Amino acid sequence: MADPLPIPTGIELTSLDRRFREDPYPVLATLRAHDPVHRDEVFGRYVLTRHDDVVAILRNRELWSDPRKGNPGSFAYEVLKESDEEPSMLLMDDPGHRRLRDLVKRSFTPRAIERWRGRVREVAVRVIGALDEGEFDLIEEVAGPIPTVVIAEILGVDPGMHESFKQWSDASILVAFSPVKTPAAVAAAEQAGSALDAFFRTEIEARRSKPENDLISELVLAETPGDGLSETEIVSMCNLLLLAGNLTTTDLIGNGVKALLDHPGELAKLRERPDLMPSAVEELLRYDSAVVSSGRIAHRDQEIGGVKISEGETMDVMLAAANRDPSVYPDPDRFDIEREDTHHQAFGGGRHICLGAHLARLEAQETLAALLSRFSSIGPGQRGYEYASNPGFRGFEQLWVSAERSS
Ligand code: HEM
Repeated sequence: MADPLPIPTGIELTSLDRRFREDPYPVLATLRAHDPVHRDEVFGRYVLTRHDDVVAILRNRELWSDPRKGNPGSFAYEVLKESDEEPSMLLMDDPGHRRLRDLVKRSFTPRAIERWRGRVREVAVRVIGALDEGEFDLIEEVAGPIPTVVIAEILGVDPGMHESFKQWSDASILVAFSPVKTPAAVAAAEQAGSALDAFFRTEIEARRSKPENDLISELVLAETPGDGLSETEIVSMCNLLLLAGNLTTTDLIGNGVKALLDHPGELAKLRERPDLMPSAVEELLRYDSAVVSSGRIAHRDQEIGGVKISEGETMDVMLAAANRDPSVYPDPDRFDIEREDTHHQAFGGGRHICLGAHLARLEAQETLAALLSRFSSIGPGQRGYEYASNPGFRGFEQLWVSAERSS
């Protein structure tokens, strides 16, 4: 009898593992084909890879997100629970989640976000306009700075603080979702958290007496009948926006440029036809997105695909696997900016669907447009690339490109 197929599990399903970090898609395809509701004993979670299971879990409003409801030993309880305090909106359940989302959602509708397009364009053109032709690290020079400057400007943070902002949010995200937390990384995250906390409290105080045209002021003024956000809730929201919106958008831009460099025909098409930009960004989100997985907690004993899952257990949904499921996407490993069906699960779904999705799209569209307009040719750089090892996320530590300007 043939040996059973080795089913990847534990670290092998995170970007801490070299094979997964460099190309998670074959690993996820193996899981989807042979063990679509996989029990990962190492991290105490069920890992789901089929598109339809992923979508059903994301949209199921009964499932929990609050890691305090997870069973001891489960991924949500051990990795995501920071303390016994109320978690941020991302990990909160109703009625608290609905209340917070209702208070902030109007600042993030497509229309509200569209107001920022001019400013996002200015930032992208300014950052990219400062680059000379030749070889540069796209992450260091473009994909890293643009989302930080954009979110800082939208929040209304002084430009002099942008660099500290980036350091603080990077230090926080490195431990927030990682199953492997080193003491040094935890200490750095704690320090960053205190610095951000103090900083935001001062900014909120200033906006209370003098509102500006920025998001912190909108949060200070956010109201539904009889309700508003407390100072602690505004601080938590600002932290979440930084945490959820910085690295992810950097990765979307980095992964997007890499996909275009790997497919010069698609890159040429996008240059010829800028009207394809919105659908190109959707395809980038499907093809190689920044967030590999999200999750929920079972609210009662249940069975999925013949596997019994007990109340309080973590169900991790692999968005990256859902987005390449051949039962939904014809030829799923093909990168095609003219794909007819542009739907994807990159932003999750249901009640926790990414609040910043429109902003992320807008930033990616404006950054790619500014890059194409500044440089008449862009190709892979001599110094190559290196993937980052942030569990749950997919992106580059370095991505060297070689760019030329037409004279
Ligand atoms: C490419 C960029 C981004 C990706 C791929 C992404 C992806 C995600 C995913 C997968 C979730 C969880 C959804 C779920 O479990 O159903 C999420 C939640 C969230 N994202 Fe994003 N995100 C991105 C950018 C942003 C930006 C720019 C912001 C804000 C400035 C943001 C703010 C949030 C917030 C606040 C939540 C929690 C929403 C809730 O719990 O109700 N994200 N995002």
